[in-house]
Amino acid sequence: MGTDKDTRINYSDNYSDIKPIIIRRCTLEDLEAVIEVNEKELPEDYPYFFYKSILDNYPESFLVACNDIGKIIGYIMWRVERTPAISSLKLVNKGHLVSIAVFKDYKRIGVATALLSNSMKNLKKYKIDEFVLEVRVSNYTAINLYRKFNYITHSIKEKYYRDGESAYFMTLKP
Ligand SMILES: CC(C)(COP(=O)(O)OP(=O)(O)OC[C@H]1O[C@@H](n2cnc3c(N)ncnc32)[C@H](O)[C@@H]1OP(=O)(O)O)[C@@H](O)C(=O)NCCC(=O)NCCS
Repeated sequence: MGTDKDTRINYSDNYSDIKPIIIRRCTLEDLEAVIEVNEKELPEDYPYFFYKSILDNYPESFLVACNDIGKIIGYIMWRVERTPAISSLKLVNKGHLVSIAVFKDYKRIGVATALLSNSMKNLKKYKIDEFVLEVRVSNYTAINLYRKFNYITHSIKEKYYRDGESAYFMTLKP
């Protein structure tokens, strides 16, 4: 269902029809569909209660993207942490990107860009001092996306993932 806070982007499908994608807040009813996108598009799986706790605690920045028939085709979720700043010992509020994914058929039409920019805007409600994220060193698609938003690579977390791959730790000051 649409609200005045929804964002709409338009794209052309293979038949050149212009179709809308709606970006809106995630609801409890959306979680199964969010998990389906995650399982198809990312190697990291999380249990249902993990998604639910992110939704319960940080609902403003948990967003979904829906196609013209209301099917969820992408999502983004963040958590907020109060930890020492990247370059000092001062405690700050960090928006930590937990996960973002978009279904294969809807890639490269600006869905992730809309999810990221809307959720970062919404995160301001949590008075964020820094945005942080980890990304697989081989995931050039996502790295490009984050660079587009001016995230910089702060460091490498060796063997960060279960399969032994390292992560770039990327940061952005709003
Ligand atoms: C990464 C991902 C979320 C991007 O989603 P998307 O909706 O296709 O991204 P957008 O269309 O908004 O593209 C935004 C930018 O990402 C980068 N990008 C996206 N697809 C790319 C590709 N195939 N090759 C290179 N760069 C790419 C580009 O910088 C692009 O900007 P541009 O189109 O102006 O050049 C999507 O590919 C995905 O779901 N990947 C699997 C899950 C994943 O890796 N998540 C990140 C975990 S850290």
